[in-house]
Amino acid sequence: MYEAAGPAAAPDAADAFERAVLTGLDYPQKVIPARFFYDEAGSALFEAITQLPEYYPTRTETAILADHAAAIAAAVGPGQAVVEFGSGSSAKAPLLLRPLHAAAYVPVDISGEFLNQSAAALALQFPELPILPVVADFTRSFALPARVAALPKLGFFPGSTIGNLAPGAAIDLLRGFAGLLGPESWLVIGFDLAPGAGKSVATLEAAYDDAAGVTAAFNCNLLHRINRELGGTVRVDDFAHRAVWNADLGRIEMHLIARRDTMFTAAGQTFRLTAGETIHTENSHKWTPAEIRLIAHASGWTPVHAWTDSAGRFAVRLWRHHDGALQP
Ligand code: AVJ
Repeated sequence: MYEAAGPAAAPDAADAFERAVLTGLDYPQKVIPARFFYDEAGSALFEAITQLPEYYPTRTETAILADHAAAIAAAVGPGQAVVEFGSGSSAKAPLLLRPLHAAAYVPVDISGEFLNQSAAALALQFPELPILPVVADFTRSFALPARVAALPKLGFFPGSTIGNLAPGAAIDLLRGFAGLLGPESWLVIGFDLAPGAGKSVATLEAAYDDAAGVTAAFNCNLLHRINRELGGTVRVDDFAHRAVWNADLGRIEMHLIARRDTMFTAAGQTFRLTAGETIHTENSHKWTPAEIRLIAHASGWTPVHAWTDSAGRFAVRLWRHHDGALQP
């Protein structure tokens, strides 16, 4: 069973991209928020990234989930409404939905068309399961479908999507999930791990600067999007993709760097960059196990189970929201 999400639930005002570009390109360090990557072209490019040999997070997390889905199911019990934040293609959801004997699946995504396509495809695999897509920006407040109100809930936040947020914002978001999902809810969440024994900085940087140039195309799609949607005159060839590990802040940063002095107009404004100047387009934070534990506690979640691949690259965690429960 699947009901398409209506356009009434549109996540952002139509001019959100325009406002973000006008504001962000006016900063001394120019910036465009990473959530604007995911128009139709960008969503397709991200799916291609997940298949790249250099991009280890997707296949590593998928293997961890496949290995431990039965343990997750045993811990949480049947009949959960599974709420996936930033569901995209919903590729990982079946790994949980099947062993979990879920009562409903609520995929939440900002890209409405992609969401409905993915939900329709999933409905073919799970004909009996109520699939209730919600078009929303999960970083803002939104409501769950009334049909799942009375069900126990399990949030699913895979892919290290949390990595786009700095620790303070990550804590705020996860506290918001606890409030949305309610007391005694569960959360299955993926974190990409910081470089260490099982992962070099070179491995990390290659994952964000692949040989085939797919990540570069994903980054440059923001410039094409300015041209498509804001009547922009960006010469995309004047920019190069750059991905660097920022050790002080524990994150991969993606930038679009001007290869030469360049100027363009967009939404009626003129913008200039000098050679070497960048537009900062994404932060992808990488975490230590101690940071992950602290983030759980700080956002109102109790760690229940921890799984990591044998190389120590990626972490999957099961947490529970004990609302105001008595503590020793
Ligand atoms: C979707 C935020 C998890 O940070 O790895 C992949 C996005 N950007 N390659 C990540 C991304 C460039 C991805 N997240």
